[in-house]
Amino acid sequence: MEMLTLALAKGRIAKDAISLLEQAGIQFDDFHDQTRKLVFQSADGKYRLLFVKAVDVPTYVETGAADIGIVGKDTIMEAGADVYELLDLGLGACQFVVAGLGDSVKRKQRLTVASKYPVIATQFFERKNIPIETIKLNGSVELAPLIGMADVIVDIVETGTTIKENGLSIIEEVETISTRLIANKASFATKTKATQQFIMQLEAILEGNQ
Ligand code: PRP
Repeated sequence: MEMLTLALAKGRIAKDAISLLEQAGIQFDDFHDQTRKLVFQSADGKYRLLFVKAVDVPTYVETGAADIGIVGKDTIMEAGADVYELLDLGLGACQFVVAGLGDSVKRKQRLTVASKYPVIATQFFERKNIPIETIKLNGSVELAPLIGMADVIVDIVETGTTIKENGLSIIEEVETISTRLIANKASFATKTKATQQFIMQLEAILEGNQ
């Protein structure tokens, strides 16, 4: 069977994703979450793993540099990549929220929204017919309302610690997100058997873990 190339997002979910793969019998012997190595070969020789920034995973998969990818739904939505979403891996579950200081939404005609996810923020407020201006930030988004740079943020809340420690509150929940398995459309057609087998292995573990 042909080898599958898997792009795995660095960061919070990497360790859990590797552990899930191990449970499914797919072992990357020299992987550890602090590694600076970028390419790994599975012990069985069936998989090549590319360890890349989360934001780039949809690009690797969409271009076919990787056949499959493991990355958060947030990143997939923001990228708008033309890929198949095959499986919810149930890892890294968190909430997309609108958050701000007190009544920051009510006072404004036109909201300024800071976010690492301007596409998602724009789509969300468009559905509600609320005019906004977005400010793209790459991290520490919670700072924006505190210094008057933005009225609200659209961001991810996992434990709620960052929001709480910065005196912000959740104004509205947008949606629940989690880590997904995605696939390149052409690869899915040409490497169907290998991809299906991979999905079945993961599904068996996910069902067992429930
Ligand atoms: C994410 C997110 C929030 C925080 C939420 O940021 O953008 O800031 O985690 O997690 P919590 O609810 O558990 O506090 P990340 O840690 O990726 O860092 P960043 O701000 O540099 O993007």
